[in-house]
Amino acid sequence: MLKNKDSMVTQELKTDEIKRLVDQVAHLKPSFYLAGGEPFLRKDTVDIIEYINSKKLPTILTNNGTMLSEEAMQRLAKVDRLTMNFSIDGPRDVHDRIRGQGNYDRTMNTVKRLVELRGRRVNPSIKTNTTFSPWIVGRIDELIRDLQAYGIDAARFQHLWFTDEQTAENHRLALKELYGIEDRGARTHVISTPTQKYVEALAKEIADVEKRRYSIPVFMHPKLTEEQVVKYYTDLTFSKSDHCSAPWTHALVKANGDVMFCPDEWVTQYKIGNVREGNVVEMWNNEKARFFRQQLNKVQLFPACKRCCAMSD
Ligand SMILES: C[S@@+](CC[C@H](N)C(=O)[O-])C[C@H]1O[C@@H](n2cnc3c(N)ncnc32)[C@H](O)[C@@H]1O
Ligand code: SF4
Repeated sequence: MLKNKDSMVTQELKTDEIKRLVDQVAHLKPSFYLAGGEPFLRKDTVDIIEYINSKKLPTILTNNGTMLSEEAMQRLAKVDRLTMNFSIDGPRDVHDRIRGQGNYDRTMNTVKRLVELRGRRVNPSIKTNTTFSPWIVGRIDELIRDLQAYGIDAARFQHLWFTDEQTAENHRLALKELYGIEDRGARTHVISTPTQKYVEALAKEIADVEKRRYSIPVFMHPKLTEEQVVKYYTDLTFSKSDHCSAPWTHALVKANGDVMFCPDEWVTQYKIGNVREGNVVEMWNNEKARFFRQQLNKVQLFPACKRCCAMSD
């Protein structure tokens, strides 16, 4: 979803262009992840999901749960291949502090209604997604207990995607050397180093929660031991994996149709094409795509990749 109204919204792909894109790739049997921004800011998001479903292909999305009308929920409750993650940043007071008064109840009322509408069906799959932050330390068990009451399929927890100044700068330099691009995207993920006290408390609490039993599955992304959680936040060279295979398995289509490989601004200036200019299946292995993979193969990862969402599972 593009944000700058004057320059970008007018460039957003139209419904028919998105459907054409789905048609182009359908034979490859992909999954579609609708990312944002907020996916339901687009008025045609439910149409697009229904269209993907009509091709017997799955859709996954994460949304804030405050944008869905009763009509939209009734339609979504009938979709067969859909996973809906609802962002919940903590127990009610924490979530509302971060996202505004009343938003926890707005989101959870949507969740409740969707669970009710799908009835005995297993679809759509309905999960919550919580990104760890200092405000939920000491509150994770309480949050899961609250969420259990809603009949959701799972509670997902997400470690932060982030970097520091030096790593972002190394990332920029590496992209310049490997691809000749000036890419400052990783800077949007720079945060000040989390305190040791916070990190140790978070790691211990996650370990405690993982020993408990709940009536819903609880997943951590990435799944880390107590010691690894501490490293995740304090040592940016630590990672469970030393390479990224996303550019061999995923393509990202921006709202304006640009096709690239890396999500969330980690590499923003390397495009392999635009869906308005040709068939995305042909772009997938064009010269620019092959060069991107070849250079990545040489280094396995760019400096800031270890905290990219593509490394989360
Ligand atoms: C980018 S948001 C967009 C979707 C939608 N607007 C929403 O609020 O859920 C999708 C999910 O990513 C999570 N998220 C955002 N920034 C993150 C970061 N730096 N690290 C980890 N998760 C993050 C959010 O908590 C949210 O659950
Ligand atoms: S880990 Fe690196 S190469 Fe992989 S998708 Fe993220 S930014 Fe791109």
